Amino acid sequence: MAATGSAVGLGNIWGFPTQTANNGGAAFVLMYVAFVCVLAYPALMAELVIGRHTRRNMVNALPSVAAKPLVKSIGSFAGLCGVIVSSLILAFYAIVAGWMMANILSSPASALGLPAYSSWLADFSVSRNLIFCLLFSILTASVVANGVRDGIERWSTRLMPTLILLIILLTSYVLTQEGAVRGLKVYLLPDFTHIFSPQLLISAMGQAFFSLSLGVGTMLIYGSYIREDENLPLVGALVAMADTGVALLAGLLIIPAMFVALAQGVQIYDINNALIAGPGLILQVLPLLFNSLGLAGMAIAVIFFSLMVIAALTSSISMLEVPVAFASEHFQLSRSKATWITGAIIFANSACIVFYFDFLFDAVVDITTKYSQPLLAAVLCIFAGWVLHRDRLLNEIRSGYNNVEFSWFWKIWPVYIRFVCPLLIIVLFIQSILTRLTA
Ligand code: TRP
Repeated sequence: MAATGSAVGLGNIWGFPTQTANNGGAAFVLMYVAFVCVLAYPALMAELVIGRHTRRNMVNALPSVAAKPLVKSIGSFAGLCGVIVSSLILAFYAIVAGWMMANILSSPASALGLPAYSSWLADFSVSRNLIFCLLFSILTASVVANGVRDGIERWSTRLMPTLILLIILLTSYVLTQEGAVRGLKVYLLPDFTHIFSPQLLISAMGQAFFSLSLGVGTMLIYGSYIREDENLPLVGALVAMADTGVALLAGLLIIPAMFVALAQGVQIYDINNALIAGPGLILQVLPLLFNSLGLAGMAIAVIFFSLMVIAALTSSISMLEVPVAFASEHFQLSRSKATWITGAIIFANSACIVFYFDFLFDAVVDITTKYSQPLLAAVLCIFAGWVLHRDRLLNEIRSGYNNVEFSWFWKIWPVYIRFVCPLLIIVLFIQSILTRLTA
């Protein structure tokens, strides 16, 4: 439940549709699903297995499975990178979550006859971004500091079905509108000439790792909480399927909704005939949709954005957990002190991103999600596949999964994390760097 709460968040409902539009539609969707199966699921399993085997956080877990001093140092270094990347991800994530919070209040404000407030809440500005990012950061830190995460996670798993239902209802409405069919085609019929474009591949890979919260030690920590009698491959598969399902559903809503907006005269293509899809995409498309539903639309907007904030919260607490666990163990701080100090440092980073948004936002997103997360995930795969002894690996998975040695999982997965995942990640990485340099 907690791992699903971490995985399902803004990455599914904001990130995935935005990236799909950015990368031209169905070709991206296809490669995303392919990467979830061949890269992200095996990497998720590597994190869960290392976590349950060592019962530690990433900085201590990786050196603890290594024997040679050099490998131990590489492990601690990768763990520290995970702490930094997780904090940087939270720095931009809290800004986007703040937009969702502001949007909860925007339509009630306009209904109360406060159009100036309503547009301040809905429109992009330094003051709004900063204030709501601060509010969301305080919310995240209080949950982590007070140790009420369990409660929040239980709550949110009860509420998530409502969010899914709401997305399904909105999708069925959107699909009856003029223009939707064209959007559906863009979403579902891949343009195969684009499928191997290096930028599309690296974006799809980054999105898969981001959506499953991989590479930074979040899932490793959750692995360390899993009981011995749980079937790890099954737990991992359920988390990956739930996460991918929500993303695909959100895309089915947003991409057709963009084309419904086009039919109403909204510009959605730029001069190069590419879809316009900045980070604010869903906040341009969804309010149009809610407005077209009249008074009911206002209530739906409030419910929708509230559920988004809760989904974002269960993800952000899992990100903050990574530096907090490290700081409290390493500097022997109390949990609450560690939380407020790391929270403040992360908010300072958010503030920098808010002030230099055009310059920093996309850069931080790209560096953390497209490059750092896959590379760190490759290190985790190498640790699970090469450093952790094969018998220990097998024993770990066998607990909770009898006869795993005769399963397909055991035939395929170890080869995957030893060879396929690290090589594929490195090849895509190099290819993307080369095309950037030559572009
Ligand atoms: N996966 C979450 C989402 O889709 C975000 C997230 C939570 C995350 N913890 C993470 C991303 C750790 C990267 C690393 O919204």
